[in-house]
Amino acid sequence: MTIPGQPSASPEPAAPLLKVEGLVKHFPITKGLLRRQSGAVQAVDGLTFDVRPGETLGVVGESGCGKSTMGRLITRLLEPTAGRIEFEGRDITHLGVAGMRPMRRDVQMIFQDPYSSLNPRHTVGTIVGAPFRLQGITPEGGVKKEVQRLLGLVGLNPEHYNRYPHEFSGGQRQRIGIARALALKPKLVVADEPVSALDVSIQAQVVNLLDDLQEELGLTYVIIAHDLSVIRHVSDRIAVMYLGKIVELADRSPLYTAPLHPYTRALLSAVPVPDPARRARRERILLKGDVPSPISPPSGCRFHTRCWKATEVCAREEPPLLTLRPGHAVACHHPEDGSDSGARGAVT
Ligand SMILES: Nc1ncnc2c1ncn2[C@@H]1O[C@H](COP(=O)(O)OP(=O)(O)OP(=O)(O)O)[C@@H](O)[C@H]1O
Ligand code: SF4
Ligand SMILES: [Mg+2]
Repeated sequence: MTIPGQPSASPEPAAPLLKVEGLVKHFPITKGLLRRQSGAVQAVDGLTFDVRPGETLGVVGESGCGKSTMGRLITRLLEPTAGRIEFEGRDITHLGVAGMRPMRRDVQMIFQDPYSSLNPRHTVGTIVGAPFRLQGITPEGGVKKEVQRLLGLVGLNPEHYNRYPHEFSGGQRQRIGIARALALKPKLVVADEPVSALDVSIQAQVVNLLDDLQEELGLTYVIIAHDLSVIRHVSDRIAVMYLGKIVELADRSPLYTAPLHPYTRALLSAVPVPDPARRARRERILLKGDVPSPISPPSGCRFHTRCWKATEVCAREEPPLLTLRPGHAVACHHPEDGSDSGARGAVT
């Protein structure tokens, strides 16, 4: 029992805000006039992870590994093929439009492209105020006042609510997208490559804005990125994806300093290092070949066609995602700490 006001000896970890189990999304490929299914794009293939209240979970991986599909599944913009999604302990996996309506307020998405995600014919006021109209909510003081407050919150001039998206720069447009996502005071924000379309010089500003807003509003984030540099300073934990699977999931510091998956090591070796002495010492790992097609992914470990450590078992058996150290899980038969699955005897 915990005595109020007394620190508990072993604090219970907070219940996850979002719980994902065995999440799968296969896009069917159809052929011929009868549109018979001839195969499937295995975009997301069995993801299991939690998102804790107040944290930022970074999700990284190369193009096509299923990051956006994962984001659209957990915000319920896509219907999963299999698996389970719980939000605040409630099963939302197959909720219909009506069932999702109250949830829509709590879970919002920020998209990659601030050019195509804002309707060019609508004013900023209409865009940022749209969530209120869609939900039939009138904020205290009226929509206009609330929109102006939101514009100020994301660092835009509140007087510009009558302007159109083309009158703003890329970074400012992404701020408009952020203001719209925050309108209904969500609990979870899924940001899909929120800065990849922006100039490098303003990427940090937008990432810092997200960071400040998290602190101010108590938000929980899932931030998707294609490399490890953008999310380095904002993520508490990081999930590395490869061809529809999570291959490593760890707290930020062990992931950057002691990655266990060869693919994570390769991704890290591509992150720019400002210090020239460290840069010279570091070996750059160039991955051979392209990412294989998710229509017919490689057998066993999906990374085996590009992995310099691959052995016969890698092509034959899929390595399960195992927690090797507290808070550090990896799916690899020959992880970087030398604890091979044969030695662990853990592969079943
Ligand atoms: N609606 C769809 N129908 C068919 N295939 C799809 C659909 N959406 C995505 N895919 C495929 O699923 C795979 C994963 O795509 P996804 O967009 O999730 O990857 P991503 O990691 O976000 O890539 P990127 O870094 O390029 O944004 C890709 O092979 C993609 O072509
Ligand atoms: S399981 Fe084998 S192929 Fe896959 S990452 Fe580990 S060593 Fe490489
Ligand atoms: Mg994407």
